[in-house]
Amino acid sequence: MVYLKELSLNDGQEILDMIREIGPGENGFGNSGWDMKDEEFEWYLRRNIRMAQGIGLEPHLVPETMYWLYVDDRPVGIIKLRPILNQNLRKLGGNIGYCIRPSERGKGYGVLILKEMMKKVKARGMSKVLLTVNEDNIASRKVIESNEGELYDIIDGKCRYWINVY
Ligand SMILES: CC(C)(COP(=O)(O)OP(=O)(O)OC[C@H]1O[C@@H](n2cnc3c(N)ncnc32)[C@H](O)[C@@H]1OP(=O)(O)O)[C@@H](O)C(=O)NCCC(=O)NCCS
Repeated sequence: MVYLKELSLNDGQEILDMIREIGPGENGFGNSGWDMKDEEFEWYLRRNIRMAQGIGLEPHLVPETMYWLYVDDRPVGIIKLRPILNQNLRKLGGNIGYCIRPSERGKGYGVLILKEMMKKVKARGMSKVLLTVNEDNIASRKVIESNEGELYDIIDGKCRYWINVY
């Protein structure tokens, strides 16, 4: 059984464990909170709920919603959706960022997490999404290309891909 679950105040220890396993993040995927204490977890959830709702955002930020990928009731990855692009995200960051926890990589979950997200993107009525990825991040480029991503350009070692929604 595979599904994306939106971050909520109901999230518990299994999510905190995954966030800690992922660490600070790699290849442009940021995982703030990886080093939080147990008692900071609720604050982390509340902050991200406000972020999703666009409440109290600094001017350079846009709303961002986080989801967990569950496979057979185990959380295996994180994916973030930013429905609105600003000038910075158009160059780097794009609409979507994702990460699979290290212990679950190489099992097809990277392809799966983006596939599940594309269903949400479609349900929101978005017509296309931008993804940016380091030119040498072969696994992530394969994830995007497996989800019909079309390479738009490569500038200074960063690829920009668009995925059209049909
Ligand atoms: C990129 C990432 C999400 C891929 O997750 P994953 O679950 O390992 O990916 P999958 O198992 O679905 O594999 C996707 C493809 O990459 C290939 N692949 C996986 N790991 C690879 C590696 N280390 N080197 C080269 N190719 C790799 C797989 O063979 C597969 O190719 P295929 O579609 O031709 O079979 C994961 O490595 C990750 O979280 N990396 C750190 C964060 C990150 O880079 N995020 C993306 C930022 S743009």
